[in-house]
Amino acid sequence: MKCLEILTMKSTSIGRVSLDVRLGCLDPNLSENSEPQKIIEAAKYALRNVAILELKFPFWRYFPTPLWTRYVENMDYFIKICTKHIDAAMERLKLKTVIDENDLSLVERILANEPNQKTAYILALDLILVGIDTISMAVCSILYQLATRPEQQEKLYQELKRIIPNPNTPLNTKLLDQMEYLKAFVKEVFRYQFTTCRIIGNGRTLQQDAVIQGYRIPKGVQVVFPTLITGSMEEFVNQPEEFIPERWMKKSDGYKIHPFASLPYGYGARMCLGRRFADLEIQVLLAKLIRSYKLEYHHEPLEYKVTFMYAPDGELRFKVIKRDE
Ligand code: HEM
Repeated sequence: MKCLEILTMKSTSIGRVSLDVRLGCLDPNLSENSEPQKIIEAAKYALRNVAILELKFPFWRYFPTPLWTRYVENMDYFIKICTKHIDAAMERLKLKTVIDENDLSLVERILANEPNQKTAYILALDLILVGIDTISMAVCSILYQLATRPEQQEKLYQELKRIIPNPNTPLNTKLLDQMEYLKAFVKEVFRYQFTTCRIIGNGRTLQQDAVIQGYRIPKGVQVVFPTLITGSMEEFVNQPEEFIPERWMKKSDGYKIHPFASLPYGYGARMCLGRRFADLEIQVLLAKLIRSYKLEYHHEPLEYKVTFMYAPDGELRFKVIKRDE
């Protein structure tokens, strides 16, 4: 399994949410020039290069650098795709007799309540841009951690076997709510510094002068809350260098964790808009996969690399073994 295959799965579900369309990313014969493949590549390109344009010296402000030119072409492509699908959703909405809002898809609800179509385009663009690469990177990392931690994978399997004795049982929120170890494992993957995926920090521009830890910081300065660091600080987390999912469970055996030490989805008014969607997708995928299959990894350890997230670099060459029960 490659990260790219996980990317295609995520693209299909995000397309359904943000553009109201099945993008067809799961077609095994996608050609390089197909729309789904181009969307995947464009989303990756946008997210992985934005930091270079934002944080390095902005030559692009003075002349169109190659990166800037390609970035703009990329965004133009996205706008074209989003416009096409949102326009189609608008046409479908015109023909629908709406009795209950629950009959509408997310995009249709926005269009029904938002007279300005531009808002729907922007929302769809935002969701598809940030929704694809984030979840796939997280899933790659979580699966790699499970495959290389057999004891903990077994614990997760035992939990899943208890909650869903019949692996074909459709999942629902009541069942997912009981999966305490699964959620704890995911949270620990987000927290753990050395081999896990996550956002490096959350940035904010100060709206007014502030004093933080004795430092006077003027209005307008950008500050970053470095969640990558705080999640590994002894004063906030016991034994931070150990990978212990149990620290997140109700019966946490005395492990402490400061509620702000690890904020994978940020915090406050600008926290991640897709967090519930991301959590749900990750939980469903893990529950379905680990209930029925065992993952093993018998190759050189993968290195973690910073793109815009911290995630494993290379092929996930798992041995996937079907479980008997
Ligand atoms: C594991 C997956 C994901 C992680 C770790 C993640 C993480 C984050 C973080 C750290 C932020 C900044 C929050 C802050 O500054 O306080 C953010 C913002 C955002 N995320 Fe996510 N995200 C994920 C998946 C998604 C998905 C699937 C979507 C869309 C469907 C999404 C949509 C957004 C949007 C729209 C924002 C900007 C919110 C705003 O500025 O008001 N994210 N995300």
